[in-house]
Amino acid sequence: MLEQLKELAQVAEAEIKAVGTLDELNDLRVKYLGKKGPIQEVMKNMKSLTPEARKHAGQISNEVKRTLSDAITVQKEALELAEITKQLAEETIDVTLPGKKTMRGRLHPLNAIVADIEAFFIGLGYHIAEGAEVESDRYNFELLNLPQDHPARDMQDSFYIDVHHLLRTHTSPIQVRTLEKACGQGPVKILCPGKVYRRDDDDATHSHQFMQIEGLVVDTHITMADLKGTLEALVKHLFGPEREIRMRPSFFPFTEPSVEVDVSCFACGGDGCSVCKQTGWIEILGAGMVHPNVLKMSGFDPEMYQGFAFGMGVERITMLKYGVEDIRHFYTNDLRFLEQFK
Ligand code: PHE
Repeated sequence: MLEQLKELAQVAEAEIKAVGTLDELNDLRVKYLGKKGPIQEVMKNMKSLTPEARKHAGQISNEVKRTLSDAITVQKEALELAEITKQLAEETIDVTLPGKKTMRGRLHPLNAIVADIEAFFIGLGYHIAEGAEVESDRYNFELLNLPQDHPARDMQDSFYIDVHHLLRTHTSPIQVRTLEKACGQGPVKILCPGKVYRRDDDDATHSHQFMQIEGLVVDTHITMADLKGTLEALVKHLFGPEREIRMRPSFFPFTEPSVEVDVSCFACGGDGCSVCKQTGWIEILGAGMVHPNVLKMSGFDPEMYQGFAFGMGVERITMLKYGVEDIRHFYTNDLRFLEQFK
């Protein structure tokens, strides 16, 4: 019986050493060390032995089991090592291969202009304020001193959502919302960029959705000179230090007086060319002194506080700055157009 065990051990050990895969090794482990393995089988005959011999046979069988299980462990480690080595060899990375080129994005020209103008005004101590694109009639019109029958309220010009709500037609409602939050206490100094909507037919210079940047300053000693100085600095920043501005009388219900602001033509320097339609000047924005009614309705005492406000079209400024001749280019996302703004 002991002979039988030893023979078994030899055969098994040889088989274990010859095995080539971890799966096969596991099969052998089950075959030799499992409950129904040959060692167990041999040990069934132990009952017929003397106690002395039984003890001896037990020791031998344990020894055989240990030897086999050690052999399995050694073989397992060897196979695992071989597998990893093989995998490492197969998966070697050739660091000299050329990489895949990733496309790098960049700011959309409109967003780049907004960021530039924001940075300019932050430098002057302004805060950025934003509002919702869906506004109530009250904030978009009424609190901005736009009377009920004002043509800007016409269904023709605005996208109404219901009787009292519409897509904002300008960024001016943010003026009112900010003033209300200030509870009649100045100073207020904000810049409000955002999308606005109008029921215009799209063409080279009109878009039903475009962007504006609104500015508002309210304090106790604000004059038109502050407005002019601020806009002059902005224009020089945007179009070059040579540029000058001029103000023409205009009308907005929420400013009094109201002005239209022109910049001296950056294409011809003011002599007259096709860019400025031979006038030497290009209109760039609307502005004025905040109407006392607007201050009053927002909780500010117009006897104590004055302010100025301005609003400009981002597309228009960008088109002028880069000589873009069609506003629709900004929204059709043709890469050949966008890639020019590096
Ligand atoms: N809200 C005006 C517009 O959309 C622009 C503007 C803003 C004019 C502030 C004066 C003051 O045309």
